[in-house]
Amino acid sequence: MNRSLVTIADHTREKIEYLIQMATEFERHPNRRLLEGKVVATLFFEPSTRTRLSFETAANRLGARVIGFADPKVTSGTKGETLKDTIMMVSNYADIIVMRHYLEGAARYASEVAPVPIVNAGDGANQHPSQTMLDLYSIYKTQGTLDNLNIFLVGDLKYGRTVHSLIMAMRHFNPTFHFIAPDELQMPQHYKDYCHEHSINYVEHKEFDADIISQADILYMTRVQRERFTDLIEYERVKDSYLLKMPLLAKARKNLKILHPLPRVNEIEYAIDETPHAYYFQQAGNGLFARQALICDALDITLEDVLKDTTIIG
Ligand code: CP
Repeated sequence: MNRSLVTIADHTREKIEYLIQMATEFERHPNRRLLEGKVVATLFFEPSTRTRLSFETAANRLGARVIGFADPKVTSGTKGETLKDTIMMVSNYADIIVMRHYLEGAARYASEVAPVPIVNAGDGANQHPSQTMLDLYSIYKTQGTLDNLNIFLVGDLKYGRTVHSLIMAMRHFNPTFHFIAPDELQMPQHYKDYCHEHSINYVEHKEFDADIISQADILYMTRVQRERFTDLIEYERVKDSYLLKMPLLAKARKNLKILHPLPRVNEIEYAIDETPHAYYFQQAGNGLFARQALICDALDITLEDVLKDTTIIG
């Protein structure tokens, strides 16, 4: 069985709930020796702060060793080595490969050629399933449920792979999505088709004001992804379309939480960090526990193994 994580769409409701339970156990006791003797490779062909460091922390806190690179310019890819050969080589050294790549479909391809599990840490504008697991964990922790929520996705819905993955994962939980994006960065049609196929409710808005935000349980802000634009004039035109400022929260629900995969540029004003609605830094912190669960799952370490674990430190 291929235990790779390429897309969150492969996971059932039960599997998502199971991984949330495992993440909860890791949040209670993150320091263990469960992965003693294992080697985790992190291959990052695109820049990252949170995803790479939280995967590496997850592995280190469970007793694994970590190898890898954060910059492909220091690898033999610069000499012409193919992705396939790189993956085959690293499979000789590591028990699992966490990979971020700029090409959509790269993780799927790697999972088909690698003898070890691949965890997709983001492939182009396509999917970011480990981010989605930490998003789901964050939503569950703050709302007490994943069911029947009003989730607003704001900003770059075209290139934002985190929102694409989130839609797919939420199909089990009867959400209502609200899409707010400039014309140039609308949710791609195939994700809207996905919503239709899976009976996911969605509404598209142009307004972004206190009245609209008053309906939200989750306000998921995203950065306009400069690196995906071929025309920087177009980037300049749309980058400030939807900025979250304090007056927009005047009618917010008490339970409203603002999420953001980060990094932030200017789409959430700093004063909002001090409000009880801001949750993006805790969200990034939850990434450690969600990724501990994902690494264990890919290595066939079960929730039962985690519950019976006697290697807890501290
Ligand atoms: N959320 C996220 O993927 O952040 P990084 O690009 O810093 O990994």
